[in-house]
Amino acid sequence: MKNVRLGLIGVGRIGVMHARNITALAARSAPGSTVTLALTDVAAEHAQAVAADLGAEYLPSVDALIASGIDGLVIATGTALHPEHIRAGVDAGIPVFCEKPVAVNVAESVPVLDYIREHHGVVQIGHQRRFDAGYLEARRAFQAGELGWIHSLRAVTCDMTPPPVEFLAGSGGLFRDCSVHDFDILRWVTGREIVEVYARGSNNGDPAIGAVGDVDTAVALVTFDNGMIGTVSASRYNGGGHDVRLELQGSAGTLLVGLDEQSALCSAETGIRFPTGTPHLTFAERFDQAYRSEMAAFVELVRGERSNPCTPDDAVAASRVADAAQESLETGLPVRVAGAPALVG
Ligand SMILES: NC(=O)c1ccc[n+]([C@@H]2O[C@H](COP(=O)([O-])OP(=O)(O)OC[C@H]3O[C@@H](n4cnc5c(N)ncnc54)[C@H](O)[C@@H]3O)[C@@H](O)[C@H]2O)c1
Repeated sequence: MKNVRLGLIGVGRIGVMHARNITALAARSAPGSTVTLALTDVAAEHAQAVAADLGAEYLPSVDALIASGIDGLVIATGTALHPEHIRAGVDAGIPVFCEKPVAVNVAESVPVLDYIREHHGVVQIGHQRRFDAGYLEARRAFQAGELGWIHSLRAVTCDMTPPPVEFLAGSGGLFRDCSVHDFDILRWVTGREIVEVYARGSNNGDPAIGAVGDVDTAVALVTFDNGMIGTVSASRYNGGGHDVRLELQGSAGTLLVGLDEQSALCSAETGIRFPTGTPHLTFAERFDQAYRSEMAAFVELVRGERSNPCTPDDAVAASRVADAAQESLETGLPVRVAGAPALVG
């Protein structure tokens, strides 16, 4: 299939970015191989403005979008709506790209996995770090054994400012909304399973975040099936900028993802000016290249030119770790990840 028409549901924070990336792909398409975009959102006026701005077609509902004849469906609505919209795309018999996570928790994800399997659906989930150059290199180096055996692993994901409280109320909590990216990428980089999580959280920012049952900062100690240990930390209040890093320390070397001239940190050492660039302020800036590559991959998936880079089963495996972290946060106890393999050795 040369000419691909994508339908996008939801043009909020991340949907607008996907819409721009799809139209940028369209601008780069070779003659006779086009990508076009139609979109919808319940915020009709806003969606019409986005469509007009990008030269996309606006449709007044999800049904109208699907009935208009699209080759692939992109879902960027809030998490609670993912199951309904995934089913709509699967029912239409077209490949689906859905933002992470599949649903607000694993219990609500499992029926969606069953539905996709029973209906032979093709669904790519939006874990864009799998397309980020730094994480790709970490995976290569780790799996080639260049770092030796890993004694410590540290993953960090910090927003500069929290998303709206209304968004947080339906997000499933900091681990399921934010650290789920780290849980996914840790499984993907290491090829190992996380078997146990021990978590702590705190609320020192807007009390409204605590009032909707969430924390603004959290740390999880994770143990892998080979005994490797690490920490996954997240905060909604990182004044230095949007900070996403992974540090792998091994017996033969140390590798850092996200350490560059735009890292949101500075050195305490005399005379050290690194990093000198302007820190990333948002996830959209930090992962611009990854989001673009992710959407290009979805177009290739629609065209039947590649395999699925992030299946719903992959995404739910990360969500199982997030669920365990949330349970640990609530109980104060270490929690075994559901379905995880036994510790080796
Ligand atoms: N991969 C990432 O890095 C990343 C980053 C941010 C958000 N996300 C995920 O993306 C999803 C959306 O997050 P967001 O921050 O953009 O949310 P948002 O609230 O800003 O946007 C959601 C949009 O969906 C629209 N919408 C709601 N119900 C609808 C319906 N029935 N039909 C059509 N449109 C509808 C809303 O009007 C809104 O414009 C979430 O699941 C979130 O977890 C992923």
